[in-house]
Formats: sequence, C-alpha cells, structure tokens
Amino acid sequence: WHVAVLMGGWSAERPVSLMSGEGVAKALEGRGHKVTRIDMDRDIPMKIAEARPDIVFNALHGVPGEDGTVQGLMDLMGVKYTHSGLATSVIAIDKQLTKQALVPHGIPMPGGQVVESAALFERDPLPRPYVVKPVNEGSSVGVAIVTEQGNYGSPIGRDVEGPWQHFTELLAEPYIRGRELTTAVLGDEALLVTELRPKSGFYDFDSKYTDGLTEHICPADIPDDIAEQCKAIALRAHQLLGCKGTSRSDFRWDDTQGVEGLFLLEVNTQPGMTPLSLVPEQAAKLGIDYAELVERIVEEAL
Ligand code: DAL
Ligand code: MG
Repeated sequence: WHVAVLMGGWSAERPVSLMSGEGVAKALEGRGHKVTRIDMDRDIPMKIAEARPDIVFNALHGVPGEDGTVQGLMDLMGVKYTHSGLATSVIAIDKQLTKQALVPHGIPMPGGQVVESAALFERDPLPRPYVVKPVNEGSSVGVAIVTEQGNYGSPIGRDVEGPWQHFTELLAEPYIRGRELTTAVLGDEALLVTELRPKSGFYDFDSKYTDGLTEHICPADIPDDIAEQCKAIALRAHQLLGCKGTSRSDFRWDDTQGVEGLFLLEVNTQPGMTPLSLVPEQAAKLGIDYAELVERIVEEAL
C-alpha cells in the first residue's frame, strides 16, 4: 500500500501526534509499504492530493484532527482514511456531547456541567472534590482536580494557576476517587483492561508520556465483573458512537462501591500510538504486535 501518515498539526497534543505518526510510519515501512509523512498545516488538501495515497492513516490527536474537521475534508476529497468518521468525531471529541449521546443508553458517566471558567474564580460549581477539564482536549491538557486543600499542581489556590486561565468554558465533574482504568476496542472486540498507577497520584500529561512515571498493570488486577463491565461498556460506547478502527474508553472506578462505582469518562477516537501508549500495549498482550495492529487498522479502512 501507499499510506500517507497524517500527524503533527497545531493542537496542544502536537508532540504526542508526532510520536504516534512516526511510530506508525516506521511500522508500515518495516512491512514494506510506501509511506508519505505529512505534518498537517493548512496546505493538507494539496499535500494529500499530490501524494495520491491509497489511504490516509490519521495519527492526529486533539483539535483539529480528532474533531471531524479533517475527516470532513477527506470525505470531500474522496480519500479513504483510518479511524472514525466525521459525525462520530464531532461527538466524541466533546466530552459533554458524548454524555448526551451515551447516558440515555444507560452508559454510566459522571454528572457534570459546562461552566464559564471566569465563574470558577468566584465559587465552586460542585462540592469539592471535583475535576475541571476542557470539553475537547486530550492527554489531560488543562485538567485540574480541585480538592479541599486547593487544586492539583497549585496548592496555594486556584487563582494562581489553572486551566481557568486558558479556556473560556470548562466541564466540571465530581471527582471519582479510586482507580484509573482503560479499555481499547479494535474492530468489533474489546481488548483488555489496563490500570494506570501514576506515581504522582494524578495521571496527567507528564505521567502519560514520561517513561517510568506511571505503572501500567495489564490486565488489571480487578474483579472479573469489573473487567467484564469495562469491556462491555467500551464496546457498546464504540458501537453507539459509530467508531471505526480503534477507540479507547477511559474509566474511573471507586473500588469501595463495586460495579456501581464504575464510570466511563470519555471515548478517545484517535488513541495514542506512541511507544508508551495503551492500545498498542493491550494489543501486544494479546499477541498482536505494533506493526500488525497498524496494518489491521489500515485494512479495516481500505
Ligand atoms: N489523547 C491521547 C493521544 C490518547 O487518548 O491516547
Ligand atoms: Mg482523551
């Protein structure tokens, strides 16, 4: 095949996307495929038209790239691409729209509300502890946990440092104490459950991408009913949203509450493909190596 690997771009997750894209490109080359690397800028329609690939591998993360814009462009151009399409991407990138789509189907997700970030200087929108996060960022960019003591990363107070300075609107959700779990879906199958144990206690950007800062336990050491529930929810969410190729569903589990304590936080339609990323790790545990995973994602989209 001739695959154009679309990566980079100008979202906050640009560095992550470059790592994902390079991993994918090398794997495809290693399997004998022709690869054109495209660092996304506003000339991408021209670059894609010039390359005339059989397919585009979308290795973008964040906005734009994970949000439907690039998917819509490729639809217009008549170019095949990996991962989810336009409508799915528009919904899944937005954590509030995702709730509106999934909660009526019985998928457990934390309650929450979109608040103007300026209002966060004045009062708490929810009882502490709560989490505030941008509605449409990835990799924990701009996420803060507000506790009785202050907020994570800035114990002296939220008026000093926090996402409220950079975003006009934020999603506020009750903080779910307990454990961080994630499940990938590949094709029509949920893979495994991984537990993330960040040394800092907060699975933030640094904990995600610095080797050694987070312990990955895969498969997670959790009761069977919780693991089964994670997989069932991940697969159902993937299907309800119409995801294609692969997705990864992230959870919090309050382990004092049994299955009632399990909440889906979000569905990632462009999950990371870096060497520390979770989808490749789960696939590897099931005997699907990185290059085979990449080929399977391409094959499904061809
Ligand atoms: N947003 C990052 C890339 C992930 O979900 O893996
Ligand atoms: Mg995400």
